[in-house]
Amino acid sequence: MAHITPSHAGFPRTAAVIPAAGRGVRLGPGIPKAMRPLGGVPMLVHAVHAMASSAAVSLVVVVAPPGDEEGLAKVRALLAEHPPASGAELAVVPGGATRQESVRLGLAALPDDVAVVLVHDAARPLVPAATVDAVVAAVAAGAPAVVPALPVTDTVKRVAAPAAVPGAPEPVVATPDRALLRAVQTPQGFDRATLAAAHARHAEDDATDCAGLVERLGLPVVLVPGHEEAFKVTRPLDLVLAEAVLARRRTDDAH
Ligand code: C5P
Repeated sequence: MAHITPSHAGFPRTAAVIPAAGRGVRLGPGIPKAMRPLGGVPMLVHAVHAMASSAAVSLVVVVAPPGDEEGLAKVRALLAEHPPASGAELAVVPGGATRQESVRLGLAALPDDVAVVLVHDAARPLVPAATVDAVVAAVAAGAPAVVPALPVTDTVKRVAAPAAVPGAPEPVVATPDRALLRAVQTPQGFDRATLAAAHARHAEDDATDCAGLVERLGLPVVLVPGHEEAFKVTRPLDLVLAEAVLARRRTDDAH
């Protein structure tokens, strides 16, 4: 079992939960998104290493697609083949039908002594260590919920409802002030008890991020600066961008 490094003695035990049970249909047909290769290695491995790159993180729990023992064994073997340099402990548990359910199952697998939890999408494989550290630091400083975020560069329109037929013209109902909008990323960091309460209280809700559940509890959520390299790999073009970022990092490392 891995332990927090001596420089983090006294720091609350911190674990990362990585929901990786999505199918990733927007990337096109084929293997689950987290298993898509990036620089020759599945995206999930990059995401695990990104979490373990923060010295505070001593455990990473990966939530894999449910209902497939062979699939779980494959994920375990993959991670054993690519252990993080930090020596952080790894665990793999089966997920659920929604991201929220997958996160809840990951949280349930954490040992009792974990007090701070990061929730990180497998689909954000390239988040820099400094961003992870900034989130951990803000939780350690007392914030119950911390979210990395960036200003939005596109103007955003609100429509009344999603189009019934994809591609059909959609009437605009509002244009929110862009200066007040932020695009949020992961890892989102939480005081564990706060996150567990949010998930227990809103188990039936359909939130696209964990911080949204904490907001519904009426507790404060704060933003810290995100990073452009923490983008989510959703569409085929995102894979091209991710490969380019990785290639640039490798060139930078070689010099
Ligand atoms: O679908 P979306 O891109 O928002 O998914 C975000 C993250 O949630 C991905 O890492 C995906 O694997 C994960 N997820 C999950 N369980 C689901 C659906 C999504 O772990 N049932």
